[in-house]
Amino acid sequence: MINPRRSGSSAAWWLLGCGVLCALAAGGVHVHAQLRGPMGPLVDTKLKDFFLPGTQPDLTGDVLDPIFAPSNCTGCHGGFGDFGIDLDAEPARNWRGSMMAQSMRDPVFQAAMTIANQDAGFAGDLCIRCHTPAGWLEGRSVPTDGSLLEGADFDGVSCNFCHRLVDPIPAPGNPTEDAMVLADLATAGHLPTEYGNAGYVLDPTDSRRGPFDDVPFNPHGAEIIPSPFHSSSNLCASCHDVSNPVFERQPDGTYALGDLDKKHMTLNKADMFPVERTFSEWAQSAFAAGGVQMNGRFGGNHPTGVMESCQDCHMPDVQGKGCILNGFPERPNIPQHAFNGGNTWVLSAVHSLYPDTETKLTDSIVADANARVAELLASASDMELSRVGSDLRVRIINYSGHKLPTGYPEGRRMWLNVKFFDLMDLMIGEHGAYDFGTAALTTGDTKVYEAKLGVDAAVSMATGVPEGESFHFAINNVILKDNRIPPMGFTNAGFESVQAAPVAATYVDGQFWDDTDYPIPAGARRAEVTLYYQTTSREYIEFLRDANTTDSTGMIAYNAWVAQGKSAPAVMDQGDFQINPADFNGDGVVGSIDLATLIGSWGPCPPAPAPCPADLDGDGAVGAADLATLIGLWG
Ligand code: HEC
Ligand code: HEC
Ligand code: HEC
Ligand code: HEC
Ligand code: HEC
Repeated sequence: MINPRRSGSSAAWWLLGCGVLCALAAGGVHVHAQLRGPMGPLVDTKLKDFFLPGTQPDLTGDVLDPIFAPSNCTGCHGGFGDFGIDLDAEPARNWRGSMMAQSMRDPVFQAAMTIANQDAGFAGDLCIRCHTPAGWLEGRSVPTDGSLLEGADFDGVSCNFCHRLVDPIPAPGNPTEDAMVLADLATAGHLPTEYGNAGYVLDPTDSRRGPFDDVPFNPHGAEIIPSPFHSSSNLCASCHDVSNPVFERQPDGTYALGDLDKKHMTLNKADMFPVERTFSEWAQSAFAAGGVQMNGRFGGNHPTGVMESCQDCHMPDVQGKGCILNGFPERPNIPQHAFNGGNTWVLSAVHSLYPDTETKLTDSIVADANARVAELLASASDMELSRVGSDLRVRIINYSGHKLPTGYPEGRRMWLNVKFFDLMDLMIGEHGAYDFGTAALTTGDTKVYEAKLGVDAAVSMATGVPEGESFHFAINNVILKDNRIPPMGFTNAGFESVQAAPVAATYVDGQFWDDTDYPIPAGARRAEVTLYYQTTSREYIEFLRDANTTDSTGMIAYNAWVAQGKSAPAVMDQGDFQINPADFNGDGVVGSIDLATLIGSWGPCPPAPAPCPADLDGDGAVGAADLATLIGLWG
């Protein structure tokens, strides 16, 4: 069992990483090693380039009490799910099965962070800030390869961090305790003016902030503070809008490298390069504007079924108790710490890469979490199949609270696989073929929903990374494609205002679905259509392996991807469509209009690829046999 970060010989492991790097740098064998000086990043950014407002690391005295490890909470908030009691309600069990609990162990993350450090000096500080806030706040994020992180830092986004979060923007109903915290931060010049991009504020003293104001008595050494912020999407915004502060937005809307070793000029996320916009997508949707009745699709026991916040869908209400102690109420609305998203395989990878004694993962926690991911992905959208003239129209309707898919743009994608079958049920055409063995996707003949980032000419000049599409997170400064499907309530102006407009794709205001038309081949009687989701594409994982000149994280991630089935695509929707081949105009009946079409195209078909729908027997001409077939299908 390899444990890449934390084996007994972790020091030796880091030395090994350095050894590889030194060898490469000295020999100049790798393309990146040639582009920069020995061991230097492509862009010589410093720690200051990654400064963002919010509570700063311990060194400045902002954090007084230690951020307690989850093991300080799980004695009471855990241990009952494992016995099958309140399996769904227990915070600890479900949190462990979420990617947020594993965000620092995540092998894909570690591999990506290494590349970020190679590309831009100190970029790892930005990554660590969100992927293990406790480690960052307690001052262990420099050196930015994570080599100083220890113990519970690897528990990622953890209990005592989330439950000490303070709303950075005062709102009616917020705890009175907040005022002092914010005042101190304002004095230090670190008070955030907006939600997002790691601008989180931590209560410097330990507290337990949560949704309930009726806890019968306080069993904690720390104060319980009822906190409306914890039921608000604004809390999740802290990390679910990601911007790169190395880039300054220019008057023409492009993003250029700012002066090095200097803070970003405005520190506003809108003036930085947008990497993820999940919160902002949500904020511009109908969910934020009063919510949407989803009729039980999401939300568990939710009393009205109207879904609004991230928590409504990602922490569904369940019946049960949140702690193991007697004398506390069973509640119908325990927010399940599910936090599932679109990650189908990395939790399994973490489970096999790290010892259970460290992750506290069990086969059943992993299986339950993976089942919830599959269920969420299946609930995310609906598919409608119809015929429009000689085409099959595939409509995908987005029911999630943000773009579909949302979030981390690199490697994640959705696509349509369409298969046509003839009368004998033989496959006569396929779009978006995927090879489950090699993980190769045929992209040219189908719709792939994704965001593609890249570097422009200026960044290419400065770094040597070729202009155009790239997976170099820390230096990407253009969005080349974003055709992900908008959520309900979408407006072009709204999405434009949060740097989330569609790119190389068009959606009209109000459109939360997308249509793709596929020509129906001659002789097709049936179509089978599948919407697939893939967490990590082959192109991305190979990049993480091949671009790495520093350590073994890229290889570890790649091997884990192979071992877990190469991120096998998950089925989001699937449908079967019967095709009446003689219903040329797709109006549901074979009638005089179709007859007129057949007669109008009598004779040899035009040269391929021009369609020839009336050639029902596929013999290259429209003739008597086709007429007989049409009459046979009349009505
Ligand atoms: C000695 C047992 C015990 C320990 C240890 C413990 N808790 Fe609790 N906690 C409870 C009980 C009991 C409740 C009340 C449950 C209820 O009323 O449903 C509670 C409630 C909470 C709440 C809800 C507060 C609200 O107003 O909604 C939060 C948040 C919380 N705990 C966080 C934590 C965190 C974080 C830790 C670890 C740093 C922790 N607890 C450790 C027993 C404990
Ligand atoms: C503002 C907070 C924030 C910062 C800063 C941040 N991330 Fe993330 N990261 C996230 C969130 C939130 C997700 C989950 C998005 C999703 O699931 O789609 C994520 C997901 C990822 C993933 C996907 C993991 C997987 O298993 O597929 C990778 C890789 C990653 N981040 C790398 C990085 C790197 C490298 C950096 C630094 C250059 C970084 N992140 C900085 C918040 C952040
Ligand atoms: C109406 C329900 C709903 C709401 C509200 C909602 N989500 Fe989601 N979310 C989903 C569904 C369904 C998916 C799975 C589809 C997908 O991956 O995009 C998902 C996926 C995600 C993912 C994983 C994306 C990926 O593919 O890697 C993240 C991260 C996420 N949501 C965060 C949030 C945050 C943060 C908010 C609030 C700002 C939020 N969600 C609000 C339903 C919702
Ligand atoms: C990503 C942030 C996050 C993390 C990590 C997290 N929680 Fe929570 N927790 C929340 C939010 C948000 C709510 C309230 C949700 C709502 O109001 O719908 C909540 C609610 C609770 C509650 C009150 C409901 C109940 O279950 O009784 C307790 C207790 C709790 N959390 C304990 C924990 C413990 C223990 C851990 C770690 C094992 C943990 N939380 C990890 C965000 C988090
Ligand atoms: C401290 C930063 C932080 C906060 C606060 C935070 N998240 Fe996350 N979240 C992350 C990171 C980092 C990841 C990605 C972990 C990974 O994949 O390695 C993530 C991943 C997710 C995912 C995707 C899991 C998947 O399968 O891809 C969901 C869903 C999610 N978070 C929901 C929430 C919700 C809901 C809230 C608010 C209650 C929240 N998060 C608050 C940092 C945060």
